[in-house]
Amino acid sequence: MITIHNLHKTLNKRKILDGIDFSFQENECIGLLGPNGAGKTTLIKCLMGILSYESGEISFQDQPIERYKKQIGYLSQYTDFKPWMTCRESLLFFGKLSGIKKELLEKRISETLKEVGLQDKQDVPVEQLSGGMKQRLGIAQAILHEPQLLILDEPVASLDPIGRNEIRNLIGRLKQRMTILLSTHILHDIREICDRYIIMKNGRIIKHLYREDQTIDLQQVRLQFRNAVSVDQVLNCFPSVTVEKLSPVAFLITGTHAFNLKHVLTACSLKQLDVISVGFHEVGLEDTFLELAADV
Ligand SMILES: Nc1ncnc2c1ncn2[C@@H]1O[C@H](COP(=O)(O)OP(=O)(O)O)[C@@H](O)[C@H]1O
Ligand SMILES: [Mg+2]
Repeated sequence: MITIHNLHKTLNKRKILDGIDFSFQENECIGLLGPNGAGKTTLIKCLMGILSYESGEISFQDQPIERYKKQIGYLSQYTDFKPWMTCRESLLFFGKLSGIKKELLEKRISETLKEVGLQDKQDVPVEQLSGGMKQRLGIAQAILHEPQLLILDEPVASLDPIGRNEIRNLIGRLKQRMTILLSTHILHDIREICDRYIIMKNGRIIKHLYREDQTIDLQQVRLQFRNAVSVDQVLNCFPSVTVEKLSPVAFLITGTHAFNLKHVLTACSLKQLDVISVGFHEVGLEDTFLELAADV
């Protein structure tokens, strides 16, 4: 659907994008991941035609992307709603700006408010919305014209856990019927949502990761006890493991071969340790991302 080839951008003699190459297909949900300053927003703005670039090509269905602007919906990192406008008025304003026909606009506003779960808030001024609701209104603005491709720049970064969850659920629903490219500097926020991840750092793509890269390590078990427990007490249950204390009640144990979780529970119960949670340690995306993103 979109192909970006050898994109270069310099600002004030500094290379901001340094030979970006990637493509994605229809119906994919792609996470653009990277620490702050990696160049995610700059790349997205080049895609949107908001910023120019020195060299490289961006095409949409093998054609110059400029012809397909109407097929793209965009939520910028910092949304710019007027605080005194109601949800409905805001969408009317942006809908007119994006050239949606008047007879269609009213209908689309009602449908979209419903889709993002703000139908009850249509006459409420933006300043009275929670962070998550504002961001949902931002997404409503981006999908009002029914684009094929939705681009979201840090859609969850500024939200509290409840707001994040609302947005994650909404994105999860939207990806059933449109292609989505979203950026974030926190992998955890989009871990279950994206099909794959493009990791950026210092203006370059340094790695492609796939959801399947997430694996569990059968030789490592995370244990949580009801009460505080010492490392020695844990070692007492599992003599030949190494124990890492994560908190007074949580431990990571590493063995030399695969654990059987049933045996782990039995061993703890024999020593009167009350386990409230047990599971294999997950490794993969998060660790790889942190490693890659770290400044070495
Ligand atoms: N208008 C600008 N003028 C100069 N440098 C900029 C400008 N906008 C962004 N930059 C720089 O470009 C780099 C990439 O920024 P950005 O694309 O916003 O990264 P990200 O979205 O990944 O946090 C940063 O080092 C930033 O300081
Ligand atoms: Mg950014």
